[in-house]
Amino acid sequence: MNISSYFSSELFKGKTVFITGGGSGINLGVAKNFATLGANIAICGRTQAKLDSAAGELRALGAKVCVAVADVREMAALEAALAQTKAELGSIDVLVCGAAGNFLVPAEQLSANGFKTVIDIDLMGSFNASRAAFSQLKETRGSIIFISAGQAYMPYAYQVHVAAAKAGIDMMMKNLALEWGRYGIRCNSIVPGPIEGTEGMKRLSSPDALAQLTAGIPLGRMGTVDEIGQVAVFLASPLASYVSGTVLVTDGGQNLAGSALFNMGAEKMMNAAAAAAKNNTGSAR
Ligand code: COA
Repeated sequence: MNISSYFSSELFKGKTVFITGGGSGINLGVAKNFATLGANIAICGRTQAKLDSAAGELRALGAKVCVAVADVREMAALEAALAQTKAELGSIDVLVCGAAGNFLVPAEQLSANGFKTVIDIDLMGSFNASRAAFSQLKETRGSIIFISAGQAYMPYAYQVHVAAAKAGIDMMMKNLALEWGRYGIRCNSIVPGPIEGTEGMKRLSSPDALAQLTAGIPLGRMGTVDEIGQVAVFLASPLASYVSGTVLVTDGGQNLAGSALFNMGAEKMMNAAAAAAKNNTGSAR
């Protein structure tokens, strides 16, 4: 589906969308949907080559693009990226906090630094970006979209770090919606379900468990990055002008069946990793 069949291709003309972690995956899909509707796009991330490749795809859709290497854990780098965006593209109207990190690990094996790393990227990174963008969003009466996850409200095995980070993001989102509404700034979260072809799915589920996982989703399939992009476009658009403080779950109904099916995939992934490690140790002897 091309989003411009449903929304005006000028919906975001003259507006700039700044996306953390915008170089790949769901975040790049979000960027492309905004670009298709006339937005200028700024993306930040840790890897220049990944950002350059994404920028090429966005320019091909007609967007003016600003690229900044910035780790969301570093406030000064984010502030510089936002200042560069304002200088190059004129304003910041929508902030998408999408940068995230994840890996499967049993809680009893997770180090304090491992836990902190995901809190720093996901939760602190989302606060840092929101805080750094505040004055510009206040000027434009803009909006913020957080990319959350089902781990925020439902326990998923081997992801205690992510659960804490994403639950924090959704509560922070509500606090910011409460405090910044007076400036016309709307804040909302999207909870993507299993999205095909993403780094997240590669990291979190064994391929042979995906068929079962998919069968457990009421809509009977995984989602696409475009389906998350479309929801982001809606939330940032005037159609959602009275929507703030909302968590918009976009998962084909996956959460209705609980996380058990997802956990089966994670279990298989962990078992395969443990078997591979054992084989390596064996062959090294
Ligand atoms: N299992 C257990 N602990 C792990 C781990 C794993 N698979 N991967 C990293 N860690 C721990 C490390 O051991 C380290 O802790 P320690 O100092 O106590 O040993 C800590 O996490 C930081 O690891 P490091 O590799 O230095 O972090 P980083 O900042 O370079 O990378 C990650 C961040 C770990 C989140 C990395 O996976 C990443 O860059 N991910 C980005 C992409 C991504 O996850 N996308 C999917 C989003 S859904």
